[in-house]
Amino acid sequence: MEVRSTTLANSGADKIVEKLKEISGGKILDVGTGYGGFIGFLKQALKSFDSFVGIDLNEEELKKAEKEYGTIANFKKMNAEKLDFPDKTFDIVSIASSLHHLEKPEKVLREIFRVVKPQGYLIIQEMYSDLTQTKAQLSTLKAHHFGAKIDTMLGEYHRETYTKEEIKKMLNILKTEELEIFDSTRYPKCLFCEDKDLCDNPMDETLIKSEIKYLRSSLEKISDYPDYEQLEKEAKKLERDLRKNGSTDASILFILARRN
Ligand SMILES: C[S@@+](CC[C@H](N)C(=O)[O-])C[C@H]1O[C@@H](n2cnc3c(N)ncnc32)[C@H](O)[C@@H]1O
Repeated sequence: MEVRSTTLANSGADKIVEKLKEISGGKILDVGTGYGGFIGFLKQALKSFDSFVGIDLNEEELKKAEKEYGTIANFKKMNAEKLDFPDKTFDIVSIASSLHHLEKPEKVLREIFRVVKPQGYLIIQEMYSDLTQTKAQLSTLKAHHFGAKIDTMLGEYHRETYTKEEIKKMLNILKTEELEIFDSTRYPKCLFCEDKDLCDNPMDETLIKSEIKYLRSSLEKISDYPDYEQLEKEAKKLERDLRKNGSTDASILFILARRN
């Protein structure tokens, strides 16, 4: 099984940004925008843009987004399963790191494709869970899956990440002839990061500590649950794996689907 390098220079992330640099963004909708991070990335990576709208169900996240990106984007609380926009409204609709947070991902994909203009793009960025990744990536992925388990216990929809094949299969419903799929071991946003060399070293203490902090804050959310002790043991084991293997985010698929 081939395990690919996770250094930024060898990741494949540059190919994604090269492609985005050729695209004039126009009117852009970001679905499941959270704190708006993907809008920040697109703003830097696209050749140009006219306007951004970000939608999400989570009001707390939308407040953070408004604070961070309110000068370039409008944010609205909206369910991605039923978008309050006419057909063919946007030049680009994006959805990042959200498919595995959606109860009905295929319904959402159909709905968001509806609001893309002809010749416009749907952009999907999603991490995947195939085992063709470094030990540092797999340890980080397991920590993420632990967080998903806790969110699920708390009633939030958050499943484990999909495999590449599962993500590609979802795209069949789009019926588009033009589909470009990039497979990168690092997020393209890393190319714009001031500390971009830091994550080339999975054993860097800052990265490991940050992932352990995520594990502990997940655990804290269920401190009064009967299963707490069992889950604490599980979290300790994941912490040991992170200390031994290091931490690197899982690889991603970056998909550009053009509407006919
Ligand atoms: C991991 S966050 C992604 C944040 C952001 N896109 C990013 O890349 O940083 C997933 C987001 O999907 C949102 N979400 C889940 N189901 C949704 C739905 N049906 N409609 C709109 N947003 C939804 C969640 O509230 C959450 O903020």
